Amino acid sequence: TTEAVLQGKTVVITAGPTREPLDPVRFLTNRSSGRMGYALAEAARRLGAEVVLISGPVSLTPPEGVTVVRVERAEEMYRAALSWRERFDWFIAAAAVSDFAPAAAEGRKIKKKGEPLTLTLVPTPDILAEIGRGKRPHQTVIGFAAETHDVLAHARKKRREKNADWIVANDVTEPGAGFDVETNRVVLIGPDDTATALPLLSKAELAEVLLRTIAQAEARRRAE
Ligand code: C5P
Repeated sequence: TTEAVLQGKTVVITAGPTREPLDPVRFLTNRSSGRMGYALAEAARRLGAEVVLISGPVSLTPPEGVTVVRVERAEEMYRAALSWRERFDWFIAAAAVSDFAPAAAEGRKIKKKGEPLTLTLVPTPDILAEIGRGKRPHQTVIGFAAETHDVLAHARKKRREKNADWIVANDVTEPGAGFDVETNRVVLIGPDDTATALPLLSKAELAEVLLRTIAQAEARRRAE
C-alpha cells in the first residue's frame, strides 16, 4: 500500500558527495554514489511529500516530481540547506559531505615542480549540526552515520551532538552496506535512543521502510 504518510510535509534531502576544487581541473571528493539519498527522495515523493533534493554531483537521474538543487562544494550545499531551514518539516542528511576543503582553490592549474606539494585543508561547515541547532519543535531531523566499529555508541553520540531526532547508522565494513552498492543494512536510532535493526534491503526498499517507520513513530510521539 502507498498510504500517503508524508502528505502535506516538505522533506529536504541532501544527497551524494561534494566536490572541493583544488584548481580549475582538480577536486577532492569521495565514493558516495548518491543512491541512498535519491532512493529516499523517490520514496518520500511516493508517500506524498513535497521533496527538495539538494544533490552533489552524481550520475543518477532524479525522481520525477522532485525539486532538484544541484551543488558542488560543501559550502554551496550548506547555503542551499540553510535557505530551506524555515520551510522543511523533515530534513534528511544523506549526503557524504567532504569534511575538509582546500583553503583556497588556485585560479590556474597547479604545475608539477618535481617536489612534494603540501595542501592546506580547512574544515567545511557541518550542515546537519547547523540544521539540528536551529531545529524548531515541529521539525524532524534525520542524519546518517557511517561507522567502522562501535556503531551504536558512535551513532547515539552523533545524534546528541548534532541535535538530530533520528540517526540511520551503518557499519560500512559489512558486505552489502554503505558506499556505492545497491543494498544497505542499517540500525535506526530513535529520539529516545532505542535501536531498531533492519534487515539487509535494497536501498529503494530501505528508503520506504525508514520513512514509514519514522512517520509512524513521529505521529505517535507528536500526538502525546
Ligand atoms: O560527522 P559525520 O560526517 O560522521 O556525520 C554524518 C552525518 O552528518 C550525515 O548525515 C551527513 O550527511 C552529515 N554531515 C553534514 N555536513 C557535514 C558532515 C556531515 O550534513 N559537513
